[in-house]
Amino acid sequence: MEFRVFSDPGEVARAAAQHFVNLSPRSVALSGGSTPRVLYELLADPREPFRDRIAWDETHFFFSDERHVPPDHPDSNYRMVNEALFSRVPLPPQNVHRVLAENPNAEEAAHAYETDLRKFFGEAIPAFDLLFLGLGEDGHTASIFPGSEVLHETRRLVAAPWVAKLNTYRITMTLPVLNNGKSIVFLVTGASKAEILRTVMNTDRNPDLYPAQAISPTNGEVSWFVDEAAARLCSINNSSNAGASSDLLNKNP
Ligand code: 6PG
Repeated sequence: MEFRVFSDPGEVARAAAQHFVNLSPRSVALSGGSTPRVLYELLADPREPFRDRIAWDETHFFFSDERHVPPDHPDSNYRMVNEALFSRVPLPPQNVHRVLAENPNAEEAAHAYETDLRKFFGEAIPAFDLLFLGLGEDGHTASIFPGSEVLHETRRLVAAPWVAKLNTYRITMTLPVLNNGKSIVFLVTGASKAEILRTVMNTDRNPDLYPAQAISPTNGEVSWFVDEAAARLCSINNSSNAGASSDLLNKNP
């Protein structure tokens, strides 16, 4: 497991973009929320050294989770990524695999997405070349929230849990898929994540309480790309120079 601390969200995004280019993944699962937007914008920016080094026609993009809303809804992860990335790069439309979350039946949307995954990867459990995840302040990742029954799903690839605290359904990849990723990258930035990051990194493993702790890949690698504000309380954080990253190789906890 790799834990890399950067001076600010921009440097986190830059390192993640470089990781993307270095890997040249053919299959990528994108996380939603606000943190990764700056990465997606960086990948699309023609003034940056990433856009032209990505084989867009050979790269397929999926979503680790999606809100149960239409694709043009302000809360839609697809809408955010389309604005920040898809609409700005020469990506064939068939390379974007969005969740059909406009379906009023979330369960059907999850089933349809699972069919799409199985079609692309074949019947085996999908093994994404690159999988981005975020960390919620309650320890959730993708749309696997504390106490969720999805934490114990071992058969399905995609589920549609009811999230009581948000009063909504979500559609999410399940742990068999997330933990089959070859390179799993958490992007965590901002002071508001300092407490939960410390908890996830420095306390005993309790995935029911902190689902992000359930991410433990079978064969892949987990990397945490975080900024100093988020890492402020982590015991494995050391003071990094402004703008530089401090790569802390940290054994699995
Ligand atoms: C989503 C994400 C979710 C997100 C965390 C962190 O659909 O919202 O997949 O798991 O990564 O909630 O969100 P922020 O980046 O907005 O803090």
